[in-house]
Amino acid sequence: MRHPKQAKQLVDRFGRSVDYVRISITDRCDFRCVYCMSEEMTFLPREQILSLEEIYLLAKCFTELGVNKIRITGGEPLIRRNAVELLQKIGDLPLLDELVMTTNGSQLTHTASQLKQAHVARLNISLDTLNAEKFKDLTRTGDLDTVLKGIRTAINTGFKRIKINAVILKNRNDDEVVDLVRFALDSGIDISFIEEMPLGVISSHNRAEAYYSSDQIKADLDLHFKLEKISDTTAGPSDYYRIQGSQTKVGFISPHSHNFCSTCNRVRLTAEGRLLLCLGNEHSIDLKAIVRANPNDTEIIKQAIIDAMDLKPEQHEFDLTEQPIIMRHMNSTGG
Ligand code: GTP
Ligand code: 5AD
Ligand code: SF4
Repeated sequence: MRHPKQAKQLVDRFGRSVDYVRISITDRCDFRCVYCMSEEMTFLPREQILSLEEIYLLAKCFTELGVNKIRITGGEPLIRRNAVELLQKIGDLPLLDELVMTTNGSQLTHTASQLKQAHVARLNISLDTLNAEKFKDLTRTGDLDTVLKGIRTAINTGFKRIKINAVILKNRNDDEVVDLVRFALDSGIDISFIEEMPLGVISSHNRAEAYYSSDQIKADLDLHFKLEKISDTTAGPSDYYRIQGSQTKVGFISPHSHNFCSTCNRVRLTAEGRLLLCLGNEHSIDLKAIVRANPNDTEIIKQAIIDAMDLKPEQHEFDLTEQPIIMRHMNSTGG
């Protein structure tokens, strides 16, 4: 830790303290994953997204309110021009304990070492399949080989931890859970399996029919590995196990089958500058408007953030059997 603890000033109506912010720095992506986007997407025009300076200013305000962990997300964060410079500046914020990032891995071969220099501690990289054809099918535009090279480069760069994220869909990649864990094990990294969340309208499949529960994945894995429950937590959604005799952790993110909202410690800043209080609800405030009206008054900005905590709902409202009530796609919040 590089500093004495900053007082935590962000507390919601349920007594949950918010010390973690996920910042989406672009809604754009070079992939079109079937669970995340529809085939045709409209992205935000540049003037509607926060500038890099505005993102930095907000990141600084958050740390002064007790936030000690920031995760940079997208879309794909590394396709935003000057993303690495922004990371460098955020990574230098004196009150921040940990800067982490979620990426699709497509740009890692040429950016991994710069990310390390920018003090990015841990990387989460999406990888749903090890089969090149299926990868193309699930991402629509992605190339498996490029991502595997990116993961390899990241491993050799020496981050504190690397975690694979795999969204599992029935009859599309559920037959790969064992291979994916073996890949993580052989690579000395972690892996999380994620139940698909109904965010935005998608065209490629019916989400209720594609549901493949974490319990089912766990049962599939139990036939091949000894998984020991561990209490590691990021106060996040993941339930973690360790593969006996290894350093590899296997996480399960199960918004449908195991609710984790009572320990939620996070809020999100969308690329458009909305402060979103819960991934599974629409409660938000327009921080961009506040920043643009008061660019030099961080006290007003910080007070608006403190006040917004009252809007944080108790839990998410996901229901796979209904049409999604949340129209925003995952790429606008970065998960
Ligand atoms: P940590 O920062 O270590 O907790 O990582 P993480 O696993 O939460 O982050 P990552 O960006 O890799 O996200 C993995 C999945 O978890 C994504 O699908 C996120 O949408 C989901 N997720 C993260 N936080 C929440 C949350 O508060 N609620 C819900 N429903 N899902 C979440
Ligand atoms: N449900 C669950 N996870 C999703 N992701 C993207 N869209 C969805 C969805 N609808 C995952 C990505 C990435 C993480 C941030 O969120 O695969 O790993
Ligand atoms: Fe891009 Fe990530 Fe969405 Fe895939 S899940 S389309 S990689 S933002």
